[in-house]
Amino acid sequence: MSEEMAHETAVGIHDLSFATTEFVLPHTVLAAHNGTDPAKYHHGIGQRSMSVPAADEDIVTMAAAAAAPVVRRHGTDGIRTVVLATESSIDQAKSAGVYVHSLLGLGSATRVVELKQACYAATAGLQFALGLVRSDPAQRVLVIASDVSKYELDSPGEATQGAAAVAMLIAADPALLTIEEPSGLFTADVMDFWRPNYREAALVDGQESIGAYLLAVQGSWKDYTEQGGRDLDEFAAFCYHQPFTKMAYKAHRQLLNYCGHGVDEDRVTRDLGLTTAYNNVIGNSYTASVYLALAALLDQADDLGGRPVGFLSYGSGSVAEFFAGTVVPGYRDHLRTAAHRAAVDRRTPVDHARYRALHQYSFPADGGDHITPAETTGPFRLAALRGHKRIYETS
Ligand code: COA
Repeated sequence: MSEEMAHETAVGIHDLSFATTEFVLPHTVLAAHNGTDPAKYHHGIGQRSMSVPAADEDIVTMAAAAAAPVVRRHGTDGIRTVVLATESSIDQAKSAGVYVHSLLGLGSATRVVELKQACYAATAGLQFALGLVRSDPAQRVLVIASDVSKYELDSPGEATQGAAAVAMLIAADPALLTIEEPSGLFTADVMDFWRPNYREAALVDGQESIGAYLLAVQGSWKDYTEQGGRDLDEFAAFCYHQPFTKMAYKAHRQLLNYCGHGVDEDRVTRDLGLTTAYNNVIGNSYTASVYLALAALLDQADDLGGRPVGFLSYGSGSVAEFFAGTVVPGYRDHLRTAAHRAAVDRRTPVDHARYRALHQYSFPADGGDHITPAETTGPFRLAALRGHKRIYETS
């Protein structure tokens, strides 16, 4: 195929599947513990519950659980690259994707890499994948976003934790969404959210982060239009990164204002109301969040076939990208709506004491032989840490 023809091939998201955790903490339980009005959580930040990993769950088990149905449906042929994006990395050297590659039984002729830029990295992975598929449309790339969002107990960020993984198969002639050029890009060196290597919980300046996010919305949209992107009114819906779902509303109001539109709340709800359904009950899943917004939109909307959707991917620190995709006619035959709802509904609620114990749980760093309590009913589990090596198994 000539370079020009390859460039014209439609590429995008062929399949999308997500997984989350064994446990869930309702925000009413957190509110009762710290004396907060539950309305602050439900309406002020737009969160009703957050996923809590079992002791034997982590970014690898969630990533493998999200990706396994994709591999079952499409096989492994043509998958020569796995990109795993995460903020909550489990190793400073080895990619979490290599464990996932092994759990999924992918072939050895694969490149596997981990990407990091706070909550943004999965979008970089998506763009890298699109480039690979454009240059060789026979290839398919597995892009996985997997994160456990963890803040200090009793800190303001505590209410905006969560955990999930989204796996996407990027391919030519995709069944769900064609991703278009151009992208609008934005980077600014800010300290709104970060996690030094010696810390398990992230540090965040909440108000700084909201401000940095809003500036990034403006900056990436400005670049998007300068690069020749679509007009705002063309989009059927907007998927935003949602550290808490009210952030999407703040971001969209900012975009409407910046574009000189009045802020019509009915329009805001119409543009993004359906995208918050999973993030609202899963909580912040960092890299996965914007793609959970897409899953919620596709799983609930009336037929969007042929309609453009806007994406705003933000990662603190900060990097943002605005890009567009067009929903592929017939996409509804390829959705995983029932499995997605089951992943949310299967979680067992925990009380506050159990949540705290899980939050504080970590392996001793002594290099000994440490067995993990068997808790998850998911398909993969972290069985032990032996001699500093993580041992995973299929349940
Ligand atoms: N009923 C309804 N709404 C209420 C309320 C009540 N009883 N009490 C407070 N609220 C509203 C506030 O008015 C505010 O709304 P606004 O932002 O529209 O003004 C909202 O609830 C939050 O209140 P606030 O006092 O700002 O909360 P906080 O100091 O606890 O911080 C966050 C909230 C979201 C900033 C904090 O949880 C945080 O920093 N989370 C991490 C965010 C993150 O991960 N950022 C990095 C990635 S982008």
